[in-house]
Amino acid sequence: MRISERIEAAMDVAIYSGQHGAAPAKLSAALGYAVSPGGARIRPTILTSVAMACGDDRPAMTDAAGAALELIHCASLVHDDLPCFDDADLRRGKPAVHRAFGEPLAVLAGDSLIVMGFQVLSRAAGDVPDRALRLIDILATRTGMPFGICAGQGWESEDKIDLSAYHQSKTGALFIAATQMGAVCAGQEAEAWEELGARIGEAFQVADDLRDALCDEIALGKPAGQDDLHGRPNAVNELGVKGAVARFDDILAGAISSIPACPGEAALAQMVRAYADRLVPADARAPQHIPGE
Ligand code: IPE
Ligand code: IPE
Ligand code: MG
Ligand code: MG
Repeated sequence: MRISERIEAAMDVAIYSGQHGAAPAKLSAALGYAVSPGGARIRPTILTSVAMACGDDRPAMTDAAGAALELIHCASLVHDDLPCFDDADLRRGKPAVHRAFGEPLAVLAGDSLIVMGFQVLSRAAGDVPDRALRLIDILATRTGMPFGICAGQGWESEDKIDLSAYHQSKTGALFIAATQMGAVCAGQEAEAWEELGARIGEAFQVADDLRDALCDEIALGKPAGQDDLHGRPNAVNELGVKGAVARFDDILAGAISSIPACPGEAALAQMVRAYADRLVPADARAPQHIPGE
């Protein structure tokens, strides 16, 4: 099965687990609406690719871990779009969950998806419960305080933002979870995989800044120009388009050279390169952005 098929199948199983029986119908529908159709599914794709590079000897656990990570990511987007955060009406090309279902159900859908993420991991323990416990710990660390996406969102309420901590926790955290969880699923130690996740997260943030500055709402499927609108520091303001692209290429090269030795090292490097190509908008490398900047 292709990686994308594995991810979608695991997501379907997870969401169904929260919808059957005497579940309230609108909240059930909101759960499905929040996760599909999905976005790029980049985090579970990285997780699965790392697990495969390390042998993927427990594929059911890998699939559960990918779904758990993506559920947390989707929950973070549902909450992020709420009026009390970014007040965004559009997500993945359709009305944000609170626009489609109302704010109370959006809050509850986000909460339910977070809980579901950890439940999926606990149910995947099988004959390797030690791996499941480590997965739960990694995902919790990268979701909550002080290093997770809660911390990242929390920085936006501070008078003075520690930019590096903000980006590392808001964006980098789930990429570190992706590489570390992939390794743990295949029986490897997590530590050696932190650097790769952090560097991919950093590169992703720069690419996201470029997309936010250069793409329109239709291409993004979500509101564009948000960094300027909310006065958020970003790589394009800081370095210009050409500088931001150069920063992206630099970080990516560092990411690839930080891949730990493993049987599928070359294939993993190839996958990271292929994904990275798709992250930077074609416009950013167009000639008009190269000379004058
Ligand atoms: C968007 O993440 C949120 C950020 C951390 C910038 P993605 O760009 O991965 O969103 P989807 O899942 O593909 O929609
Ligand atoms: C959303 O960050 C990421 C998290 C909720 C952790 P942003 O607000 O920067 O991303 P978009 O533009 O809404 O996807
Ligand atoms: Mg936000
Ligand atoms: Mg947002």
